[in-house]
Amino acid sequence: MNEITLIKPDDWHLHFRDGLMLNETVKATARCFARAIVMPNLVPPVTTGEMVAAYRDRIMAARPEGSSFEPLMTLYLTDKTTADDIKAAKKAGAVAAKMYPAGATTNSDAGVNSLDSLFPVFEALAENGMLLLIHGEVTEKHIDIFDREKEFIDRHLVRIVEKVPSLKVIFEHITTKDAADFVMSAREGVAATVTPQHLMMNRNDILDGGIKPHNYCLPVLKRSTHQEALRNAVASGSNRFFLGTDSAPHARHKKENACGCAGCYSAWSALELYTQVFEELNALDKLEGFASLHGPDFYGLPRNTETVTLVKEDWQVPDSIILPDGDPIVPFYANQTVRWKLK
Ligand code: DOR
Ligand code: ZN
Repeated sequence: MNEITLIKPDDWHLHFRDGLMLNETVKATARCFARAIVMPNLVPPVTTGEMVAAYRDRIMAARPEGSSFEPLMTLYLTDKTTADDIKAAKKAGAVAAKMYPAGATTNSDAGVNSLDSLFPVFEALAENGMLLLIHGEVTEKHIDIFDREKEFIDRHLVRIVEKVPSLKVIFEHITTKDAADFVMSAREGVAATVTPQHLMMNRNDILDGGIKPHNYCLPVLKRSTHQEALRNAVASGSNRFFLGTDSAPHARHKKENACGCAGCYSAWSALELYTQVFEELNALDKLEGFASLHGPDFYGLPRNTETVTLVKEDWQVPDSIILPDGDPIVPFYANQTVRWKLK
């Protein structure tokens, strides 16, 4: 197959950041995605309905001329979030809340320390028809970083899913066979997003032959058996798995650093790279479900009606992009050849 046309996809998990950066990130995503779930881990985080509405306005103002791209907003949960905050966020247009265990990743310090006290908030989400999006890793420093996702499933996720049966839960950017198996066999109303980097790479790609900071993201890449399990999960065509790039820009000097930031900026190549992966898996017939159908169906939103076409044509991801503030950033897959191109 040399050409594939899909219903226009959505990105169900990304980081636009704020300020001048929006002029770069919104354009990159709007080139091929109709909608995107926008993560709230700004500084300060998006913790109130007012902040949700104001952030949405800033994103809308950064859309390229004539674009109908629609940001879908999320609320950042803290130890102090109340059921009233959930109602206010809903009123302000948020469709979901994001739960970061405190300290799990970039700008998560204000996240949740005591999950137990958040159950009334989880109930409020369910009552208001909002989804719970979870960064699923425990944060205890004595737990091996490669085991933190599995530990989170066993200690927390099983309980959240069981105790609030009407809550829709998305296990974000899954990285392990344990997570894929959990999602596959969980009750109705549990799904997962999968990033291009976790489908294309494993932990050798960070550590073999020298440290590769641009492949460092969180949850960290795992061993190849886990990568295989994720690839099998998406190739299965199960509607519990859908596209979420976790595109997360950091300026080059923050990645190429003695203490480098986590995140891969994939917006300029993600759809093409997913296509490449599905082709490798002999599963191009499952790409549209993953990219364009399972997400809106799970969120209870309409499917898009426009289409996009990809052609089989080599192109090279640039070695850097200059951000609106003048800083260079190294995009995901920099200098490498992508086999599919957006028409
Ligand atoms: O790699 C990551 N980067 N993982 C996250 O969970 C957050 C993100 C970011 O905001 O940079
Ligand atoms: Zn993320």
